[in-house]
Amino acid sequence: MCGIFGIINDKKNQAAQTVLEGLKKLEYRGYDSWGVSIIPQGKQEILVEKHIGKIGNAQTNLPSGLIALGHTRWATHGGVTDRNAHPHLDCDKKIAVIHNGIVENYQEIKAELLEKGHQFVSETDTEVIAHQIEEKSKSKKINEAIFETFKLLRGSNAIAVLDFDSQTVIACRNGSPLVVGLGLAQFFLASDVPAFLKETNKVYFLNDGEAVVLSNSGVKLYDIDSEKEKILIPQVLDWRLEDAEKSGYPHFLLKEIYEQLKTIPKTTSINEKEIKELAKKIKLGYKVVLTGCGTASYCALTTKYFFAEQGIDTAAIPSYEFMPFAKFVDKKTLVFAISQSGETADTLIAVKEAKKRGAEIVAVINARGSTLERLADTVLSVGAGPEIAVVSTKAFTSQLSTLYLLATAVTDRYEEGKNKINKLGEVLRDWLNPVLINRLIDTAKNLMDEEHMYLIGKHLNYPATLEFALKIKETSYIHAEPFAAGELKHGVITLIQKETPCFVLASKDEIKEEVLSSAAEIKARGGFIIGIAPFESNEFDVLIKTPDLGNLTIFANIIVGQLLGYYLGVGRGADPDKPRNLAKSVTVK
Ligand code: F6R
Repeated sequence: MCGIFGIINDKKNQAAQTVLEGLKKLEYRGYDSWGVSIIPQGKQEILVEKHIGKIGNAQTNLPSGLIALGHTRWATHGGVTDRNAHPHLDCDKKIAVIHNGIVENYQEIKAELLEKGHQFVSETDTEVIAHQIEEKSKSKKINEAIFETFKLLRGSNAIAVLDFDSQTVIACRNGSPLVVGLGLAQFFLASDVPAFLKETNKVYFLNDGEAVVLSNSGVKLYDIDSEKEKILIPQVLDWRLEDAEKSGYPHFLLKEIYEQLKTIPKTTSINEKEIKELAKKIKLGYKVVLTGCGTASYCALTTKYFFAEQGIDTAAIPSYEFMPFAKFVDKKTLVFAISQSGETADTLIAVKEAKKRGAEIVAVINARGSTLERLADTVLSVGAGPEIAVVSTKAFTSQLSTLYLLATAVTDRYEEGKNKINKLGEVLRDWLNPVLINRLIDTAKNLMDEEHMYLIGKHLNYPATLEFALKIKETSYIHAEPFAAGELKHGVITLIQKETPCFVLASKDEIKEEVLSSAAEIKARGGFIIGIAPFESNEFDVLIKTPDLGNLTIFANIIVGQLLGYYLGVGRGADPDKPRNLAKSVTVK
């Protein structure tokens, strides 16, 4: 939540413009407002430009300069106004601060600063940081003033400070992500790599309790508690520039949906050693608990079905409901924490609790260098590359495919699992063709004005309906409600009226007839049935045919939901990459 981007030594001497362009790559982290601050050449104070709304194609009139720092905001404290947009300045306009997180004790700090005469112009928690640094820097060096201020803040926070006098950018991390990019004489600070990937893939991910000072001579790393310098050992990522670009697609979401043709089979060539080690433990009797939030929690539930097929009982618990069940976790439990970002607050809380109880943590993650990665005993990095669209697609299918491989490894069928996933990749490539896309676009056109839709599925297709419905809701804002097919006659059927659209997700399996009976019950009440399945049926008014892939058919069924969500969203004028009110990584409780 919230995007941070700063630069030192901008090679074009247009640091504000560079920061603005980088922020556009981070807008998925928050898009309530944006702002840029710069140390302008020949001026005696920091200049700031900030506006509410999405960055879109914004330009800035800020003057030239070598050092700038900017922010995209997902509002927490203080409404969405220009004044509340970051950066925030101290009274003398020599210190600009941006922030990702919540300062839980900001009221107390603000009261003390008001008594000392500081003037506040916003309602944010962030502004207190700028004034507190100003206050402390009266008697201390800027680094110390910032570190000490940071230690006063309660909550999970990352801050970045632009300091006029020292011409530096200084940042501290506790709970919210920060990464440094080491370019050729240019240095970057960001909350995520895509902001500077164009310039460098040599990075350092800050740990909690670390700070960095970026100056024109380089980047220094510090331990915040001791305020001592540490050795900074960078890593080189295998990410390519295209990973952070739309590459000819109109939206990142569409690009990422298509990337699944590669990212799903890619999971068969990574993590084999880790998967086999974990499978051994499960065979030895370790309990399996799967957890995550949103899409990742649906991945957890789907995996529960995959494990059940292999005869293994597991628990799938959404992370935000983990606490009542935490007492069942012990030293012989593997807790699989599933997360694209590795920064989701609810997931991290569940993981910390499980860790306290002695469980082994397995992080099933996509982004690199996250808090979850650091907390984990084993990391299954699913390798889908940067997922820029707020709505999760390729990270989900890579996580699911990785966990499917694990389920097969537990019954010594890993090679078979691998072949099936590779086959899935090939089949999806043929299936995702222009004929299918036209059919989906036509279906989306017919559904464009609907406000309510229902979905049913059974067994593996039940969690598939949850994910399918979430894609529709997030991307098009249409109310799409998923049910287990069996649930229908226990109440839900009252919602069906003449022409109510109802998706029926099915596979060619032993329960297909039961699902079709549920479809018939809906149809008998006037419902309009859209089958998402690898077979024809008289119960379907429309069929979006998916390939018959046995228990992996759900991958294709879910991809239909991703694409329909996309086309419905575009048709209804929503921004499919940045749905309203959402942020890509939810770092608050
Ligand atoms: C849905 C979506 C969210 C995330 C959830 C967890 O498309 O993106 O539901 O899945 O916020 O995020 P991560 O996976 O980063 O922990």
